[in-house]
Amino acid sequence: MYTQEEIAALNRQFENSTPQQVLQYFMEKLGSRLALSSSLSIEDQTLTDMMLKIDKQAHIFTLDTGRLFPETYQLIDQTNEHYGVKLHVFCPQTEELQRFVATEGINPFYESIEKRHACCQVRKLEPLSRAFRDLDAWVCGLRSSQSVTRSAMQLIEWDEQHGLLKINPLIHWSEEQVWEYIKSNRVPYNRLQDKGFPSIGCEPCTRAVRRIDDIRAGRWWWESPEHRECGLHQRY
Ligand code: ADX
Ligand code: SF4
Repeated sequence: MYTQEEIAALNRQFENSTPQQVLQYFMEKLGSRLALSSSLSIEDQTLTDMMLKIDKQAHIFTLDTGRLFPETYQLIDQTNEHYGVKLHVFCPQTEELQRFVATEGINPFYESIEKRHACCQVRKLEPLSRAFRDLDAWVCGLRSSQSVTRSAMQLIEWDEQHGLLKINPLIHWSEEQVWEYIKSNRVPYNRLQDKGFPSIGCEPCTRAVRRIDDIRAGRWWWESPEHRECGLHQRY
């Protein structure tokens, strides 16, 4: 547990640091009690590259909801091969998922926000709570310019919901900076990025966007922008 004052001091300490410096500090301090939660986005692939360059044993996991795009599954394999690692994959619990599908149906998310959140709970949040066992901190690829729901986020936060330190090393980066890193370091990325998908989640809940749209406009597009979070990044 960190106080608001301690979090503010950490944010001041790293105000002018690069993402690599932030990662190096916390990776050395926390070791395997820190993990990157990767959705295989361009931001998370950037962090994966940075972390594995700091330490080949870096702890990285992903949540396989069972509804990801084939391209995302390919990227898990490609990433493992490229870096000679094995990302930890957490899946939903079979019994719980079967019960959910039996009562709500296979695609209940379009019916209401409540049903959408219930699906995210079974497919993402419950596996995430298992991924968090034995962790003190999680690293995420959030950027403040991604959406209205993320504009007030900080580099370092106390995640009240999960009782963990939350570190967002790319919080102040622009999309252009992420692409520059991806290209100059030849980091593998999701092929859907080149087909109009700047933000990629589950297949039934993601669609392509036009260049002029908000980059997260294709996520849960049938809901209003302030609702477009899955519960992983709840704000207080
Ligand atoms: S989210 O709404 O799905 O959470 P986004 O795809 O922008 O949004 O991801 C933001 C951050 O949440 C990622 O950088 C990652 O840390 C975490 N995250 C999202 N989806 C997953 C996933 N399937 N597995 C692991 N982490 C995830
Ligand atoms: Fe279910 Fe859609 Fe949430 Fe994926 S993003 S867990 S399919 S509601």
